[in-house]
Formats: sequence, C-alpha cells, structure tokens
Amino acid sequence: MISKDRFEKRIIVTGGAGFIGSNFLRRAVPRYRQYLFVNIDCLTYAGNLGNLKTVENDENYVFEKIDVRNDELLADCFEKYDVNAVIHLAAESHVDRSIIGPEAFIETNIRGTFNLLELARRRVHDFRFHHVSTDEVFGSIEDGLFSELSPYNPSSPYAASKASADYLVQAYHKTYRLDTVISNCSNNFGPYQFPEKLVPLTIRNALLKKEIPIYGDGGNIRDWIFVEDHCRALDLIFHGGRSGNTYNIGAGYERPNLDIVTGICRIIDRMLGDGPRERLITFVGDRPGHDRRYALDSSKIKSELGWEAVESFDQALENTVRWYLDNQEWLDDCISGEYLKYYEKNYSRRRN
Ligand code: NAD
Ligand code: DAU
Repeated sequence: MISKDRFEKRIIVTGGAGFIGSNFLRRAVPRYRQYLFVNIDCLTYAGNLGNLKTVENDENYVFEKIDVRNDELLADCFEKYDVNAVIHLAAESHVDRSIIGPEAFIETNIRGTFNLLELARRRVHDFRFHHVSTDEVFGSIEDGLFSELSPYNPSSPYAASKASADYLVQAYHKTYRLDTVISNCSNNFGPYQFPEKLVPLTIRNALLKKEIPIYGDGGNIRDWIFVEDHCRALDLIFHGGRSGNTYNIGAGYERPNLDIVTGICRIIDRMLGDGPRERLITFVGDRPGHDRRYALDSSKIKSELGWEAVESFDQALENTVRWYLDNQEWLDDCISGEYLKYYEKNYSRRRN
C-alpha cells in the first residue's frame, strides 16, 4: 500500500504509457522522489507499459488502468491518492485515424478532458492542471510563425478535438479559477514512438525494405522536436508556467517530409552499409485536409522559463534511428501486438 501522505505532490499523469508520457515519466520519476506519479492509462493500441520498465517498481510511481472517459473510476482515483495535480497527455493522437474514425477522438480528447477538469474543480484550492496540447490547433501557416495569440483553425478531427479540449481548460481557468497551464508542442520524434507516425514508420519500413509512403508531394513542412526537449519543457511549464497561460514549444527545425524520409534512409544506409533505401520512397494520395506547414514561435517559453532545445536535429535524428535499430524487438512487438500482453503478464496480480 502506498503511503500518499509522504508525498509533497500527488500527480496524475494521463497517457503515461504512450510515447511522450513514457518519455516524461522515465525522466520525472527518478528526478522528483518527493512526488508520487500516478500513471492513468487505459492502454489503447498506443499504450505500452513495457516503455516504463525502468520506473515500474519505483516507490513514487504507480499505474492505474483507467479510461479517462470513465468519470467514476477517475473520481475514485483522485480520492485514493488525494491528487493535487494533473499532467494530461492521454489522447487519441493520430491524425489519419481521426479521419477514418473521429468518434473516439471526441470521446477521449474532449469528454476525457472534461471529466478530469470536473474532478480538478472540486479541489480548486490546491490543484495545478497541465494540459498537453499540440500546434495542430492553429492549422496551417504559409509564412511566419504561430504565437500563443494566433487564432485556432484546426483542420482534422484530431486537431479540432484538441482545440476543443484547450478551450475547456481555458474556460475552467476563467470561470472556476482553476490553476491551469496549456502547452502546444510541435511534431515530436524519438524512442518509443508507435510506428504509425512518420519517423518510426519510415525507420521500420526502411529496415524491412518495404515501400515508404509519402503523402502528396512530400513538401509538407513540420517543426520537429526531439521528445526529450519536449519533456524538459513540460517539466518547466508544470513547475513555473503562469496560471491561465499557454506556452508554445517548438525547436524550430522546420523540414519538409521528403527531407525527413530521405535523411532517415541515408542514416540507415550508412549504419548498415546496404543501401540505397531512397528507392523505397513511394508517393501516395494526399491526406484529406493535410496542413501544409506548421511553425511555432517559442520565444515566450524561452524568455519566461529559460527553455531551449538542446539537441541538434541531425544528432537527435541519428540517435533516434540508432535506438530503433538497437530495439527492433520493440518495433516487432508493436506490429505483432505482443506488447499488449505486458499488462496481463506483469500487472494483473499486483496490488498498489
Ligand atoms: P500516444 O498515442 O503515443 O499515447 C497516448 C496514450 O494515451 C496511450 O498510452 C494511450 O493508451 C492513452 N490513452 C488513449 N486514450 C485513452 C483513454 N481514453 N483513457 C486513458 N488513456 C488513454 O500519444 P503521444 O504522441 O505520446 O501524445 C501524447 C499527448 O501529447 C497527446 O495529448 C497529444 O495530443 C500531445 N502531442 C503530441 C505530439 C506528437 O508529436 N506526438 C505533439 C504535440 C502534442
Ligand atoms: O504537430 C504535432 C502533431 O504531430 C501531434 O499533435 C500529433 O499527435 C502527431 O501525430 C503529429 O501529427 P502529424 O500528422 O504531423 O504526424 P504524422 O507523423 O502522422 O505525419 C507527419 C507528416 O508526414 C504529415 O505531413 C503527414 C506525413 N506522412 C505521414 C505518414 C504517417 C506521410 O507523408 N506518410 C506517412 O505514412
């Protein structure tokens, strides 16, 4: 049984078994022994508890298999751990899936956020709510950069669901004086990303010498950030972000998709010495509503909180490719579904 009283903060981290959540927890759990981290995740296809092996037995970490759509289980959890902070990452996160089936995005990303806000509201006097959002809420930009004041203009059901959640969080700050912060981050890459997203999908297909699909002409630009730089930013915003504020997080590494894919092919060719893989690149039909360019102005988090990206893009991409090469079993498990058995094998008989 966990003695919650000895922890200065009892923080629910939602979506902690996903890509960014697990990177965040592997960093934060050893760093903040005075905090209890309660990882709430319902383990969709994107949730992999094996990502958390390095912290799963730590005394200030606990996992609760809960769906954020289930307000009753959430309420029990808030009570059980006397929770006084939420870092909310749980979401349906893949744009292509939102185009095929938007409903889960509405339920998890909007309803789930609402459920958490309602519980936080009951503890409004001692609570910080950090909502982790995306640059996709701003839509596409031809020139210049999106600032925190740019209007929302979402293109996909995913982006619209995240924008709706952001608005709810803002409303709870204004109406109920809930202490909130929102961070809007650009495209992450790094270890433990599910291989449906461009970077890990390209690495996997390049390793298997399968076609690498590029939507449209490959000229769409994303503002890439290494996941560890994002996680450092989350830490700074959670601790020092001004209540009611939003913070953009972008490293400024703008790259067209074709450059990303070509770059990965060349790195793997060099590492394995058996290229060229560029011939695997296959232009396919475009994503409906495909945003042409994302680019963030991150001067606010830099000036207020002293954050900047420390990883160079080239080095971080090289390290990321190396990680997937060294962890091909992790990639294979994602495809076979083997990772989904981790909970049954390791957690189902545990007691907190
Ligand atoms: P991910 O898809 O890898 O992980 C999402 C996690 O949420 C998974 O562990 C999944 O099991 C869990 N989850 C989904 N629905 C749930 C539900 N109903 N109840 C409980 N848990 C649920 O996503 P990610 O890439 O790690 O993104 C995390 C957050 O960061 C999301 O909110 C996303 O919108 C945001 N974000 C992502 C990026 C990016 O580039 N990946 C950039 C900016 C913001
Ligand atoms: O900008 C932040 C967002 O980045 C996050 O909020 C989302 O959760 C995350 O999924 C990501 O969204 P994108 O749609 O930008 O990422 P994705 O990896 O799906 O696609 C990146 C770009 O690559 C995009 O322009 C579409 C293109 N693409 C993607 C895939 C999967 C391809 O050309 N081929 C592909 O097979």
